[in-house]
Amino acid sequence: MRPKEKTKVFVTGPLPGDAVARLQASCDVVVGGGVASAAFDDHAETLHAIVSLLTDRIDATLLARAPRLRLVANVAVGVDNVDLAACRARGVAVTHTPGVLTDATADLAFALLLAAARRVAEGDRLVRGGQFPGWSPTTLLGVPVFRATLGIVGLGRIGQAVARRARGFGMRVLYTQRRRLEEALERALSATWVPLEELFASSDFVTLHCPLTAETRHIVSRERLASMRAGSVLVNTARGACVDEAALADALEHGPLVAAGLDVFEDEPRVHPRLLAQPNAVLTPHIGSADRRTREAMAAVAADNVLALARGEPLPNPV
Ligand code: GLV
Repeated sequence: MRPKEKTKVFVTGPLPGDAVARLQASCDVVVGGGVASAAFDDHAETLHAIVSLLTDRIDATLLARAPRLRLVANVAVGVDNVDLAACRARGVAVTHTPGVLTDATADLAFALLLAAARRVAEGDRLVRGGQFPGWSPTTLLGVPVFRATLGIVGLGRIGQAVARRARGFGMRVLYTQRRRLEEALERALSATWVPLEELFASSDFVTLHCPLTAETRHIVSRERLASMRAGSVLVNTARGACVDEAALADALEHGPLVAAGLDVFEDEPRVHPRLLAQPNAVLTPHIGSADRRTREAMAAVAADNVLALARGEPLPNPV
């Protein structure tokens, strides 16, 4: 940037809270309609920073159109929408919003786990559909949560927050990830490391808390679904592409799964039609971090990173 030149920022969509106002106090800010908008085209050449959403694909083609770009501040903890190698090659920093959405996402994972296990959404549809004739000993029998075994794929911040919630439900917690946690932390979380295959075969509930990478794409494969316990439940609040959705639809239809709770989908906003047709799938529209305080905090963290760039300070949340 030239000395004294104002940092020019493209914010790809409206943000909750005062993040845009804080940016406007010292930067030249354009709030547009995504990176595919005409507004982005108009400003790309002069931008220093983009505040991007997870629906914005930041790739080499886009970067080539923004030669002065220094920072992509993603309003999400996941950065699978950003081509990190292409950014690195052009010297563009990437930041994200870790930490502030941990509890909100863990809350939603547990909400989906409970809703799927106890058929809450099915029950709601039944009552609204006038199909509730009165109490019966055989209506909507679900699976027990208390003292069940929970398998957590990825025991990072969010996975650990889920493990803490699971303790309140007396659950036995298994986890898997490449790097095993220190023993003291495992003990504090009452979490036992097992290999991935064992986790799938030994859990009543499997919940995903891993980033989407080449390694985790379809980590929930047809084979792994087939290896799950009869009557088990899958919960996904991570990324849709971690799951082979067609295989999941089969596993819900024919077993071994009895239910799934899904907040994310392979090809959002499209949802696989066979999942839409499964009454035992609880589906939410990617709202893992969607409580007001959390979303405002995410926007604030992205703004903080842009303001650090503008002041020439180290970025607080580099990927
Ligand atoms: C939401 O999905 C996020 O990655 O923050």
